[in-house]
Amino acid sequence: MQDYHEFLDEILVSEDALKQRISELGQEISRDYQDQDLHLVCILKGGVLFLTDLIREISVRNTLDFMAVSSYGTERKSTGQVRISMDLVEGIHDRNVVLVEDIVDSGYTIASVLEFLETRHPKSLRVCTLLDKPERREVQVPIHYRGFVIPNKFVFGYGLDLDGYYRNLPFIATVDLERYHPAESSGSTRL
Ligand code: IMP
Ligand code: MG
Repeated sequence: MQDYHEFLDEILVSEDALKQRISELGQEISRDYQDQDLHLVCILKGGVLFLTDLIREISVRNTLDFMAVSSYGTERKSTGQVRISMDLVEGIHDRNVVLVEDIVDSGYTIASVLEFLETRHPKSLRVCTLLDKPERREVQVPIHYRGFVIPNKFVFGYGLDLDGYYRNLPFIATVDLERYHPAESSGSTRL
């Protein structure tokens, strides 16, 4: 497998910047849900690093659940067809739900998840995304909490993968696609 230094173009969001911004988001969410219970729903796999850091910055009482979504299409372009590949364990009826996602790109994933969860009648439903790539939007979605607005470039690290790899990097970086050679498939879908 290629060493990521070979194709890393630039570090877009450093480890320090992530820490600082996630702490602010945690405070904002804690203010908004003061005296209320909060149910965080992490969208796997990309949202998981963000979730584990964010939850430690939230001071209101909270619970946690996970779901996974796969979108058809190639690794870098969503087709708009989204499938719920893993449903929640708990019910969300009458609960204050905040979705925790890594990135909103075309918007198809979040739009489908919102539509799917609305049918269960939560008390409230909001979206918290670490990254927002507005230039790529094909369907408008409400975003209540956003970490960073980023340019139209493919990024990896801190939960976001390149063909399934490099999610563990502590920063978010852009890829130089000219210098990146995908390894044999890791069997990943766009999660
Ligand atoms: P959307 O449905 O197009 O909004 O994209 C949703 C999913 O595509 C995200 O949850 C990510 O898993 C993946 N994705 C979109 N852009 C990137 C990127 O720049 N790097 C890594 N994954 C991405
Ligand atoms: Mg994702």
